Amino acid sequence: MSCMHTGNSSLFKERFEFMNKVETISGIIRSRRAIFPAMYTGEKVPEDKVWELLENANWAPTHRLTEPWFFIVIPQEKIHKLCEFGAAWYKEYTLPEVYSEMKYQKIKTKALSASHIIAICMKRDPEKRVPKWEEEAAVACAVQNMWLTASAMGLGSYWSTPGYALNSKEFFNLKKGERCLGLFYVGVPEEGLKLESRRQDVKSKVRWFE
Ligand SMILES: Cc1cc2nc3c(=O)[nH]c(=O)nc-3n(C[C@H](O)[C@H](O)[C@H](O)COP(=O)(O)O)c2cc1C
Repeated sequence: MSCMHTGNSSLFKERFEFMNKVETISGIIRSRRAIFPAMYTGEKVPEDKVWELLENANWAPTHRLTEPWFFIVIPQEKIHKLCEFGAAWYKEYTLPEVYSEMKYQKIKTKALSASHIIAICMKRDPEKRVPKWEEEAAVACAVQNMWLTASAMGLGSYWSTPGYALNSKEFFNLKKGERCLGLFYVGVPEEGLKLESRRQDVKSKVRWFE
């Protein structure tokens, strides 16, 4: 009798668990959405949940184990400092013909509803054992781990890359070889949000080598 017929065989159990895992991870991956601060209630996320995000970020793949990611966590009480820096940076570095007072005000206030903002940072391997892009890719993998975890927790989150964040070396007191690659927003989403997204058919992006 084959294992499939025994019902309680370990092979059947493993296969069943595997199917469950695939369904679970596919569900999380496909339902993950960019959820913006305008959609947050302003409530705080408990710190242990933030640590869970960071722990999973830390398990990203990394060529030669350079582990190039690190994070600066900005709790809600301090977010106003980032907003003020962002707005001032925008005012200083935006060409007058592009500058918008509305955008300036938005930068000053929009992030305040977040519970935490995590600055996504990268430290280049001092010996440059792997190309820079591979370290950037590893950081992106870490961010995706956080994003998927936040989604599984029912939190709102997204990766934002405003000019001021990419030019925040002094603000975050970064050292030589360190860079900020953007901000990861974390917040409690309002109930009943309709979050839609779309992707082109994967078949249009796949070529089977013949
Ligand atoms: C590297 C990276 C940078 C991003 N930067 C921004 C950003 O600056 N502003 C923004 O609104 N969304 C940003 N996003 C989020 C995308 O806008 C979002 O993923 C896209 O709209 C698709 O929506 P979905 O993730 O809900 O499917 C960024 C995403 C990535 C991967």
